[in-house]
Amino acid sequence: METKPLVFVTRRIPEEGLNLVREACTVRLWEGELPPPKDVLLREVPACDGLLSLLTDPIDAEVIAAGVRLRVISQMAVGVDNIDLRAATARGIPVGHTPGVLTEATADFTFALLMAAARRIPEGVDYVRAGKWRTWEPMGLLGVDVWGATLGIVGLGRIGTAVARRARGFAMRILYYDPTRRPELEAELGVEYAELEDLLAQADFVTLHCPLTPQTRHLINEAALRRMKPTAILVNAARGPVVDTGALIRALSEGWIRAAALDVTDPEPLPPDHPLLSLPNCVVVPHIASATVSTRNRMARIAAENLLAGLRGQRLPYCANPEVYREL
Ligand code: GLV
Repeated sequence: METKPLVFVTRRIPEEGLNLVREACTVRLWEGELPPPKDVLLREVPACDGLLSLLTDPIDAEVIAAGVRLRVISQMAVGVDNIDLRAATARGIPVGHTPGVLTEATADFTFALLMAAARRIPEGVDYVRAGKWRTWEPMGLLGVDVWGATLGIVGLGRIGTAVARRARGFAMRILYYDPTRRPELEAELGVEYAELEDLLAQADFVTLHCPLTPQTRHLINEAALRRMKPTAILVNAARGPVVDTGALIRALSEGWIRAAALDVTDPEPLPPDHPLLSLPNCVVVPHIASATVSTRNRMARIAAENLLAGLRGQRLPYCANPEVYREL
């Protein structure tokens, strides 16, 4: 009888994906609410043919080297900055991810963050809950207009583009910065290319949609924040380390910018006593931009399909290191 491949799944994921994996594999599932510690990863991977990971798992060169039988790593996320892609490629291991299916949910959420900070929704909720709502106040909780404002999109990939489509409905002027100029999108969506310095100086809202790479780590540093308008709002639904947290705390507390809305932070999670959490002009939510039922179901299914394709020796439907196929 043919033995099923052994896979380690680093957290309970939606059944839509998990069941597919269970049908074809022997599953070792980490049942913890928190990610498996690194020593658990190092203990589990040597016996595994496949690994289904989340963005909270450090799949570094050491873990990849320990996975002597690994034929595929499949991550249930679009971002794969937690995985040493170079080490995986060098070992001939394809790495799967889940682009596309979370684009619209993430773009919706980016707008939710932007609106929440612009119109001070969390402050309003706190105000009501604290019993401070006594009357309609002519000058209470004043925010800034979104309609007609200038939006600066850093990274015009799938999600950045979906954000631009929404911004058109708000009659925003849309600037974008991206290492690759996108003339077809400029024509289709009326977005204008700008160098990062110019985008930062002109935008009322700066929203980040780039992957975390050595080039984008601390892209939004002290100099970048100082270049922004004092009335501007920063939105980050990309990766926490794209922003220099220390500089952001100074920017928000000293008024270099008006506010920030963060789905992602550095570190992540933020400890409850972190200075960012005591700033009224900072909205922080726990990395939930893709968190809708249908999106997470689709992500789990694609993660399963990538995993199974890799185990069968087929090309992954969504591969984060396609160069692995050239090197084989
Ligand atoms: C979420 O942050 C993802 O990369 O899918």
